[in-house]
Amino acid sequence: MLAEEFEARHGSQPLGFWSAPGRVNLIGEHTDYNQGFVLPFAIDRRAVVALGAAPDARPTARVSSTFSAEIVEIALDDLAPDALDGWSAYPLGVAWALAERASAAAAAASGTRTDLPGFTLHIHSAVPIGAGLSSSAAIECATAVALNEFWQLGLTPKELARVGQIAENQAVGAPTGIMDQSASMLGRSDAAVFLDCRSMQTESVPLGLGAEGLEVLVIDTRVSHDHATGGYAARRASCELAAATMGVESLRDLAPADLPRMQEELDDETFRRARHIVTENDRVEETVRRLETSGPRAIGDLLDASHVSMRDDFEISVPELDLAVEVSQANGAIGARMTGGGFGGSALALVPHAARPALKAAILKAFAEQHFRRPDLFVVQPSAGATMEGQTRD
Ligand code: GLA
Repeated sequence: MLAEEFEARHGSQPLGFWSAPGRVNLIGEHTDYNQGFVLPFAIDRRAVVALGAAPDARPTARVSSTFSAEIVEIALDDLAPDALDGWSAYPLGVAWALAERASAAAAAASGTRTDLPGFTLHIHSAVPIGAGLSSSAAIECATAVALNEFWQLGLTPKELARVGQIAENQAVGAPTGIMDQSASMLGRSDAAVFLDCRSMQTESVPLGLGAEGLEVLVIDTRVSHDHATGGYAARRASCELAAATMGVESLRDLAPADLPRMQEELDDETFRRARHIVTENDRVEETVRRLETSGPRAIGDLLDASHVSMRDDFEISVPELDLAVEVSQANGAIGARMTGGGFGGSALALVPHAARPALKAAILKAFAEQHFRRPDLFVVQPSAGATMEGQTRD
């Protein structure tokens, strides 16, 4: 179907298809840009791109998508963060970041610029937009794996994750960390990605949900958020202020034992922001330990504590997310928390299969009673990261 859409929009055949997933973060929120720990997993909702060659005299990028009627076209030489906006800034930001990297590598090797061929890209995504499930990282990573192959750049999955983050930071203008793109690139089925955002060391941590009769229910509150504006950047600034005041490179360098000293030196709000990061790093490590020794039924209280910390200390929750979490906890969930950057988006509940129908009904009822928008409820499966899906021809 994507091949036909590609042909209808661009009048040619794609060379192949690549896909990358959205993510749910199990635990470790706002720790990534503090050089800390995160434990996300890739989900079974993916962005797929079809990519074809574009033999113009002047190499050109041409992108289209199923969420817009427009075709955005720009010469590769003109790619620059300031030249990009709207939905196309995600794929074209990746093209720009990759082209920069390729040019730098070519210049270092031979002192010349590299001539990259133009391309045509058509995007379809099944990752809901604005739900806090990294629809943007899915598009970035699908584009990155496609162009990495088309341009024969040979970059590793971790390098491609960094390219996606650079696109998001510079072309989209959202000062986000490396978590989402890492999950989208490195996900494995039935496992979470344990990432140390300082060393960039990763470990695949088996979740074993099916064997325990558990599933992860996503509650998309449909409260929209935008990390390019407002609260996200303010939280990041508070963390940087706290680290500078405490004389450390990042909050990663502080441990729970430092909290009394932090409370003395930081103003109340900055202290609470920093306390969230310090305790959250600790919870991520403890979650990994418990998954490895006792399995997923043992992590519920850590998920719950993470939510309280985000609600009260980091102050990134909203009433809809708190309600989703509370109703989940009261209706059979093993643990629940908001997931992602906050200020809207989704919560997750770790829930036994058998409890799901009653939990869903309870959430819908509670939201209706509060006159909140009807949330979207769906189960996600921990899934594989970005990959080539197939070739149209040799
Ligand atoms: C967003 C960002 C991530 C991360 C989370 C919060 O998803 O893109 O880098 O900071 O928020 O954990």
